[in-house]
Amino acid sequence: MRVSVIGCGHLGIPHAVAMAEIGHEVVGVDLDPAMTDRLNSGRCPVHEDGLAELLAAHLAAGRLHFTTGIAEAAAFADVHFLAVGTPIGADGRSYDTGQVVAAVRALAPHLRRPCVVIGKSTVTVGTTGRLAALLARLAPAGAGVEVVWNPEFLREGHAVEDTLRPDRIVAGVASRHAEDVVRELYAPLVRNRVPLRITDPATAELIKGAANACLGMKISFINGVADMCAAAGADVRQLSDAIGLDPRIGRGGLDAGPGYGGGCLPKDLRAFAACAEALDAPDAAALFHAVEQVNDSRPAAALRLVEETLGHGVAGTKITVWGASFKAGTDDIRESPALAVATLLHRQGADVTVHDPLAVPTAQAHHPRLGYEQDLETSVKGAELVVLATEWPHFRDADHEHLAGIVARPVLVDLRNLLDADTWRAAGWTVRQLGRPA
Ligand code: UGA
Repeated sequence: MRVSVIGCGHLGIPHAVAMAEIGHEVVGVDLDPAMTDRLNSGRCPVHEDGLAELLAAHLAAGRLHFTTGIAEAAAFADVHFLAVGTPIGADGRSYDTGQVVAAVRALAPHLRRPCVVIGKSTVTVGTTGRLAALLARLAPAGAGVEVVWNPEFLREGHAVEDTLRPDRIVAGVASRHAEDVVRELYAPLVRNRVPLRITDPATAELIKGAANACLGMKISFINGVADMCAAAGADVRQLSDAIGLDPRIGRGGLDAGPGYGGGCLPKDLRAFAACAEALDAPDAAALFHAVEQVNDSRPAAALRLVEETLGHGVAGTKITVWGASFKAGTDDIRESPALAVATLLHRQGADVTVHDPLAVPTAQAHHPRLGYEQDLETSVKGAELVVLATEWPHFRDADHEHLAGIVARPVLVDLRNLLDADTWRAAGWTVRQLGRPA
C-alpha cells in the first residue's frame, strides 16, 4: 500500500521505517525542511538501535522518502498516519492537540479521493470523532475520508523491535471498510502472530491512556512497597520477583527506583487523571492522583536514603550522580528522575557532579547549575558519595576496585538496585540499595 506518515519525530520516523520494512511504499512528511533533507540523506536524528540502518536500506531501495509537501503526500498515499506530538497544554494536565488539528487542516484540502487517516499520537477520548467531522467538512472527498485511532505502544530505546514486533496492535474503527484497510496494512505483522485488536475509536483512545496509567500504577505501587521494605528490613527485589511470578501480576514494571519519568508516563498519568475527572469518574481520578503523588515523592525519598547513608545532611558534601537520562538506552532527559534527584541534592547544598554516557550535553543545556563530567572515572574523583540514578549497564560493569581508590569515600547509594552489592562491598564500598537491607 502507499502510505504517508505526517510528523517525523520519535514516533513518526520508526513508524515510517517499519511501514517500509513490512512492504509498503512510504512518504514521511515534516514541516521542517532541514529534517526532511537530513532524513533523505540517511542521517537519522533519533537515537535507536538498528533504526539508521533500516532507514538507509529503505531509502536506497526507493520504498521510503521524505518531503515537506503535504499536497504531494495526499496525491501519493491512500493511508495517512498522524504521528505529530501532543504535549501537555497550558492547563498543565490535558493534551494540546494543536499539532494534530493543524496537520489535519493542512492535509484536508488535498484529499480529493476516499482515503483513511490513522491517528497514532496519544490523545484524549473523543478526538477521532472530532477529526472525522473536521475532515468531512474540509476535504473535497468529504465523508469518503475515514478516521481510525491506532495508538502506539513503543518504548524509547526499543523503537525498532517495538514497531516490528509489538505486543499488540490496537485500531479503533468506525466502519467495516476502515477495518479492512487496517487488516491489510498490518497483515505482515499479524501473520507473525502479533495480536490485532479492532475496537471502536473511543476504546482505542482509552486503551493507550489506560496502558500507561497501569504501568505508572505498578511503578508507584512497588516504590511505595519499597518504603515498607526499607522500614521492615525486607528486600523489595525478592518481593518483586516473587509476586511477579503470578501471571495476574507479572514482573514488568516492578523495578523499584527513583520514580517514572520521560516524555510519556508522567504526562499521560496527568492527562488520564484529568480525563477521568472530565468523564465524571472521581474514584478513578483519585487513584491516578495517588499514583502521581507517590511518584512526586520519590526524589525526597532518595534524599532521605542519601542522608541516612551519610549520617548527616548533604550540605557541603561532594556527591556524584550517575545518570541523567530518564532511563537507560536514551539521551532523553524529559522529566528525568535522575536529574530531579541531582537538582534536589544541589538545592540542599551538596556539590553535585552528574555523569551519563549519553545525556550530558542535553542535561547541561537544561540544568546549567549542576556540574558535569563526561568520563565515568573522572566523575567520581574526590566524591564523598555516589548516587546511581539511571540503570545504564555502564555503571553495573564499572571497575569497582579501581574506582574505590579514586573516590574520597567509597560510599554508593544505588537507587535502581542495579549493582551486585556484595562484590562492590568486597572491594571496600559501602552500598545502600532502595528497599533492601543495608
Ligand atoms: C512508555 C511505555 O512503556 C510505552 O509502552 C509507551 O508507548 C510510551 O511510554 C509512550 O506512551 O510513548 P517510555 O516512556 O519509553 O515508554 O518508558 P518506559 O520504559 O515505560 O519507562 C518509563 C519510566 O518508568 C522510566 O523512568 C523508567 O526508568 C521507569 N520504570 C520502568 C521504573 O522505574 N520501574 C520499572 O519497573 C519500569
